[in-house]
Amino acid sequence: MHFDILTLFPSFIEDNPYFKHSIIGRAIEQKIIKVRAHDIRKHSRNKHNKVDDTPYGGGAGMLMTCQPLFDSIKAIKKKNKGPVIFLTPQGKQLTNTRVRELAKNPELILLCGRYEGIDQRVRDELIDEEYSIGPYVLTGGELPAMVLVDAVTRQLPGALHDDESALEDSFSRKLKGKKEYPHYTKPANFKGLKVPDVLLSGNHAEIEKWRMKNLR
Ligand code: ADE
Repeated sequence: MHFDILTLFPSFIEDNPYFKHSIIGRAIEQKIIKVRAHDIRKHSRNKHNKVDDTPYGGGAGMLMTCQPLFDSIKAIKKKNKGPVIFLTPQGKQLTNTRVRELAKNPELILLCGRYEGIDQRVRDELIDEEYSIGPYVLTGGELPAMVLVDAVTRQLPGALHDDESALEDSFSRKLKGKKEYPHYTKPANFKGLKVPDVLLSGNHAEIEKWRMKNLR
């Protein structure tokens, strides 16, 4: 899967240790995914490299203008044939179901907004899908883009080791992605805080019953 991320802050992506370690770092190393960041500002034809302006009709804040966005998206579309996804709090909620659908694409283009948003004409002409990672407003789309990369990568064959996949399966199937039972690991007694006896019993039927009763 190739992710091309359009942003005003490519270093947020390129220098991010999150992409260098653990599951995502390993997926990059094993060439299961490739993540490239592209600076929208490089496409500005304004002599001061400006990429934002005030909204027509008035109102607070600045909007990202059409020209740098049209040019940067069009340049990327020559190399990446995947859908263009805009990360915005107004988008559809990103769910595990949608993540699994997205994971079927060999390529994705992710557009990160800044300021109060982007000119509507970019959305109308060039954006295929809009996603929100939750009902709150962040300062930009970079963190949401990275969240999407993480969630999609977990769905790709080979990205998770067997034990990690098993956890993923139980999360999506048995627990329907909503609830989890409480987890405990060694020691059985930590400074007087004890693990429930049933989990130490070795009785798998009883353990399963306890877990289902204690979903939260
Ligand atoms: N940009 C700012 N806030 C966002 C959110 N919650 N989801 C996606 N993109 C965003």
